[in-house]
Amino acid sequence: MAENVFSWLDERLGLKAIYDTILDRKVPKVNWWFTLGSASLFLGVMQGITGMLLSVYYVPTPDHAYDSITFIMTGVQFGWLIRGIHHWGASLLILTAFIHMLRVFFYGAYKYPREFTWITGVTLLICALGMGFTGYLLPWNQRSYWATTVGTEIAGTVPWLGDFLLRVLRGGSDLSALTLSRFFSLHIWIIPAIVLVIVGTHLYLVIRLGISNIPDKNS
Ligand code: HEM
Repeated sequence: MAENVFSWLDERLGLKAIYDTILDRKVPKVNWWFTLGSASLFLGVMQGITGMLLSVYYVPTPDHAYDSITFIMTGVQFGWLIRGIHHWGASLLILTAFIHMLRVFFYGAYKYPREFTWITGVTLLICALGMGFTGYLLPWNQRSYWATTVGTEIAGTVPWLGDFLLRVLRGGSDLSALTLSRFFSLHIWIIPAIVLVIVGTHLYLVIRLGISNIPDKNS
Protein backbone atom coordinates (compact mmCIF):
# COMPACT_ATOMS: atom_id res chain seq x y z
CA MET A 1 0.00 0.00 0.00
CA ALA A 2 2.69 2.51 1.11
CA GLU A 3 4.79 1.42 -1.89
CA ASN A 4 1.86 2.10 -4.23
CA VAL A 5 1.30 5.54 -2.73
CA PHE A 6 5.02 6.28 -3.07
CA SER A 7 5.25 5.19 -6.71
CA TRP A 8 2.05 7.14 -7.54
CA LEU A 9 3.61 10.29 -6.03
CA ASP A 10 7.09 9.55 -7.45
CA GLU A 11 5.71 9.24 -10.99
CA ARG A 12 4.13 12.69 -10.67
CA LEU A 13 6.63 14.56 -8.48
CA GLY A 14 9.94 12.86 -9.30
CA LEU A 15 10.62 12.15 -5.59
CA LYS A 16 13.39 9.62 -6.20
CA ALA A 17 15.28 12.03 -8.44
CA ILE A 18 15.01 14.71 -5.72
CA TYR A 19 16.21 12.22 -3.07
CA ASP A 20 19.15 11.13 -5.25
CA THR A 21 20.20 14.72 -5.98
CA ILE A 22 19.96 15.97 -2.41
CA LEU A 23 20.78 12.99 -0.20
CA ASP A 24 22.54 10.44 -2.38
CA ARG A 25 25.21 12.72 -3.82
CA LYS A 26 28.76 11.60 -4.40
CA VAL A 27 31.14 13.26 -1.93
CA PRO A 28 34.95 13.07 -1.89
CA LYS A 29 36.80 11.63 1.10
CA VAL A 30 36.20 14.26 3.76
CA ASN A 31 36.70 14.69 7.51
CA TRP A 32 34.78 15.99 10.53
CA TRP A 33 35.45 19.63 9.62
CA PHE A 34 33.07 19.13 6.70
CA THR A 35 30.12 18.55 9.03
CA LEU A 36 30.01 22.14 10.30
CA GLY A 37 27.85 23.49 7.45
CA SER A 38 25.21 20.86 8.21
CA ALA A 39 25.58 21.56 11.95
CA SER A 40 24.91 25.26 11.24
CA LEU A 41 21.91 24.30 9.11
CA PHE A 42 20.53 22.09 11.89
CA LEU A 43 20.99 24.86 14.47
CA GLY A 44 19.35 27.37 12.11
CA VAL A 45 16.30 25.11 11.77
CA MET A 46 16.18 24.71 15.57
CA GLN A 47 16.30 28.50 15.96
CA GLY A 48 13.35 28.75 13.58
CA ILE A 49 11.28 26.15 15.44
CA THR A 50 12.03 27.43 18.97
CA GLY A 51 11.54 31.03 17.77
CA MET A 52 8.07 30.19 16.46
CA LEU A 53 7.20 28.58 19.79
CA LEU A 54 8.47 31.61 21.74
CA SER A 55 6.40 33.95 19.55
CA VAL A 56 3.25 32.25 20.88
CA TYR A 57 3.77 33.97 24.26
CA TYR A 58 6.18 36.83 23.58
CA VAL A 59 4.64 40.33 23.36
CA PRO A 60 6.80 42.96 21.59
CA THR A 61 5.78 46.06 23.57
CA PRO A 62 7.74 47.88 26.31
CA ASP A 63 4.87 47.26 28.77
CA HIS A 64 4.70 43.51 28.24
CA ALA A 65 7.96 42.22 26.72
CA TYR A 66 9.78 41.63 30.02
CA ASP A 67 6.74 40.11 31.73
CA SER A 68 5.99 37.86 28.78
CA ILE A 69 9.55 36.46 28.97
CA THR A 70 9.18 35.94 32.74
CA PHE A 71 5.95 34.10 32.04
CA ILE A 72 7.66 31.90 29.41
CA MET A 73 10.37 31.04 31.97
CA THR A 74 8.09 30.31 34.92
CA GLY A 75 4.51 29.77 33.75
CA VAL A 76 4.76 27.90 30.44
CA GLN A 77 5.43 24.13 30.40
CA PHE A 78 9.00 23.66 29.11
CA GLY A 79 9.12 27.38 28.31
CA TRP A 80 12.53 27.60 30.03
CA LEU A 81 13.80 24.80 27.81
CA ILE A 82 12.56 26.35 24.57
CA ARG A 83 14.00 29.74 25.53
CA GLY A 84 17.27 28.12 26.66
CA ILE A 85 17.67 26.29 23.36
CA HIS A 86 16.92 29.51 21.45
CA HIS A 87 19.33 31.54 23.60
CA TRP A 88 22.30 29.13 23.53
CA GLY A 89 21.54 27.97 19.99
CA ALA A 90 22.11 31.51 18.73
CA SER A 91 25.68 31.61 20.07
CA LEU A 92 26.38 28.05 18.98
CA LEU A 93 25.15 28.78 15.43
CA ILE A 94 27.51 31.74 15.11
CA LEU A 95 30.36 29.59 16.44
CA THR A 96 29.70 26.66 14.06
CA ALA A 97 29.17 28.98 11.05
CA PHE A 98 32.42 30.80 11.90
CA ILE A 99 34.47 27.59 12.21
CA HIS A 100 32.77 26.35 9.00
CA MET A 101 34.04 29.54 7.34
CA LEU A 102 37.56 28.91 8.69
CA ARG A 103 37.47 25.36 7.29
CA VAL A 104 36.42 26.69 3.88
CA PHE A 105 39.18 29.31 4.04
CA PHE A 106 42.03 27.05 5.14
CA TYR A 107 41.08 24.34 2.63
CA GLY A 108 40.87 26.95 -0.16
CA ALA A 109 37.27 25.82 -0.85
CA TYR A 110 36.27 29.43 -1.64
CA LYS A 111 38.26 29.36 -4.92
CA TYR A 112 36.85 28.86 -8.42
CA PRO A 113 34.09 27.79 -8.98
CA ARG A 114 32.86 28.36 -5.40
CA GLU A 115 33.31 32.14 -5.08
CA PHE A 116 29.58 32.73 -5.08
CA THR A 117 29.07 30.05 -2.40
CA TRP A 118 31.55 32.04 -0.28
CA ILE A 119 29.69 35.32 -0.94
CA THR A 120 26.34 33.79 0.08
CA GLY A 121 28.12 32.35 3.18
CA VAL A 122 29.43 35.77 4.23
CA THR A 123 25.91 37.16 3.81
CA LEU A 124 24.56 34.36 6.01
CA LEU A 125 27.08 35.10 8.72
CA ILE A 126 26.15 38.81 8.64
CA CYS A 127 22.45 37.81 8.85
CA ALA A 128 23.20 35.52 11.83
CA LEU A 129 24.94 38.41 13.60
CA GLY A 130 21.97 40.65 12.73
CA MET A 131 19.61 38.06 14.24
CA GLY A 132 21.72 38.04 17.41
CA PHE A 133 21.76 41.84 17.62
CA THR A 134 18.01 42.27 17.05
CA GLY A 135 17.11 39.31 19.30
CA TYR A 136 19.17 40.65 22.19
CA LEU A 137 16.83 43.63 22.66
CA LEU A 138 13.64 41.57 22.77
CA PRO A 139 13.68 40.61 26.52
CA TRP A 140 13.64 44.40 27.18
CA ASN A 141 15.66 44.12 30.39
CA GLN A 142 18.40 46.47 31.60
CA ARG A 143 21.14 44.51 29.86
CA SER A 144 19.37 44.33 26.52
CA TYR A 145 18.30 47.98 26.68
CA TRP A 146 21.83 49.28 27.33
CA ALA A 147 23.50 46.82 24.96
CA THR A 148 21.24 48.08 22.18
CA THR A 149 21.87 51.69 23.20
CA VAL A 150 25.60 51.07 22.75
CA GLY A 151 25.14 48.93 19.60
CA THR A 152 23.05 51.54 17.82
CA GLU A 153 25.50 54.25 18.97
CA ILE A 154 28.28 52.29 17.26
CA ALA A 155 26.16 52.22 14.06
CA GLY A 156 25.84 55.99 14.55
CA THR A 157 29.61 56.43 14.18
CA VAL A 158 29.63 55.25 10.53
CA PRO A 159 30.98 58.16 8.44
CA TRP A 160 28.29 60.18 6.59
CA LEU A 161 25.49 57.64 7.10
CA GLY A 162 25.84 57.27 10.89
CA ASP A 163 23.12 59.62 12.05
CA PHE A 164 20.68 58.25 9.47
CA LEU A 165 21.43 54.63 10.48
CA LEU A 166 21.02 55.40 14.18
CA ARG A 167 17.63 57.04 13.60
CA VAL A 168 16.40 54.25 11.31
CA LEU A 169 17.44 51.58 13.82
CA ARG A 170 15.99 53.39 16.84
CA GLY A 171 12.97 54.87 15.09
CA GLY A 172 13.97 58.26 16.54
CA SER A 173 16.81 59.68 18.59
CA ASP A 174 16.26 57.42 21.63
CA LEU A 175 15.28 53.80 22.26
CA SER A 176 11.50 53.48 22.47
CA ALA A 177 8.54 51.25 21.66
CA LEU A 178 9.35 51.95 18.00
CA THR A 179 12.84 50.48 18.41
CA LEU A 180 11.40 47.34 19.98
CA SER A 181 8.85 46.82 17.21
CA ARG A 182 11.46 47.50 14.50
CA PHE A 183 13.87 45.00 16.04
CA PHE A 184 11.08 42.45 16.47
CA SER A 185 10.02 42.78 12.86
CA LEU A 186 13.63 42.50 11.66
CA HIS A 187 14.13 39.49 13.94
CA ILE A 188 11.08 37.46 12.98
CA TRP A 189 10.26 38.59 9.41
CA ILE A 190 12.80 40.60 7.50
CA ILE A 191 16.12 38.88 8.30
CA PRO A 192 14.61 35.33 8.28
CA ALA A 193 13.09 36.01 4.83
CA ILE A 194 16.53 37.06 3.52
CA VAL A 195 18.12 34.04 5.24
CA LEU A 196 15.67 31.62 3.57
CA VAL A 197 16.58 32.89 0.10
CA ILE A 198 20.33 32.94 0.80
CA VAL A 199 20.43 29.52 2.53
CA GLY A 200 18.50 28.12 -0.44
CA THR A 201 21.08 29.57 -2.85
CA HIS A 202 24.00 28.39 -0.66
CA LEU A 203 22.71 24.81 -0.57
CA TYR A 204 21.79 24.84 -4.26
CA LEU A 205 25.40 25.80 -5.02
CA VAL A 206 26.78 23.14 -2.66
CA ILE A 207 24.73 20.51 -4.52
CA ARG A 208 25.39 21.93 -7.99
CA LEU A 209 29.17 22.25 -7.57
CA GLY A 210 29.70 19.27 -5.24
CA ILE A 211 31.93 19.30 -2.17
CA SER A 212 35.55 20.28 -2.74
CA ASN A 213 38.42 17.87 -2.12
CA ILE A 214 40.78 18.22 0.80
CA PRO A 215 43.74 20.07 -0.73
CA ASP A 216 46.65 17.79 -1.58
CA LYS A 217 50.11 19.33 -1.28
CA ASN A 218 51.40 17.10 -4.08
CA SER A 219 48.93 18.28 -6.70
C1 HEM B 1 24.24 29.73 8.68
C2 HEM B 1 25.31 29.64 7.98
C3 HEM B 1 25.73 28.54 7.01
C4 HEM B 1 25.11 27.34 6.66
C5 HEM B 1 23.78 26.80 7.19
C6 HEM B 1 25.97 26.70 5.69
C7 HEM B 1 25.74 25.44 5.12
C8 HEM B 1 26.66 24.76 4.32
C9 HEM B 1 26.64 23.34 4.02
C10 HEM B 1 25.60 22.33 4.53
C11 HEM B 1 27.72 23.07 3.22
C12 HEM B 1 28.18 21.68 2.73
C13 HEM B 1 29.62 21.33 3.15
C14 HEM B 1 29.99 21.54 4.56
O1 HEM B 1 29.16 21.35 5.45
O2 HEM B 1 31.18 21.89 4.83
C15 HEM B 1 28.40 24.33 2.97
C16 HEM B 1 29.50 24.50 2.14
C17 HEM B 1 30.12 25.72 1.88
N1 HEM B 1 29.95 26.88 2.60
FE1 HEM B 1 28.53 27.19 4.02
N2 HEM B 1 27.05 27.51 5.45
C18 HEM B 1 26.95 28.64 6.24
C19 HEM B 1 27.87 29.67 6.35
C20 HEM B 1 28.97 29.84 5.50
C21 HEM B 1 29.95 30.89 5.62
C22 HEM B 1 29.96 31.95 6.73
C23 HEM B 1 30.83 30.73 4.56
C24 HEM B 1 32.01 31.58 4.17
C25 HEM B 1 32.12 32.85 4.36
C26 HEM B 1 30.40 29.57 3.79
C27 HEM B 1 30.99 29.12 2.62
C28 HEM B 1 30.80 27.85 2.09
C29 HEM B 1 31.55 27.30 0.96
C30 HEM B 1 32.56 28.04 0.06
C31 HEM B 1 31.11 25.96 0.83
C32 HEM B 1 31.60 24.92 -0.20
C33 HEM B 1 32.68 24.15 0.50
C34 HEM B 1 33.20 22.97 -0.26
O3 HEM B 1 32.71 22.65 -1.35
O4 HEM B 1 34.13 22.34 0.29
N3 HEM B 1 29.28 29.04 4.41
N4 HEM B 1 27.75 25.33 3.67
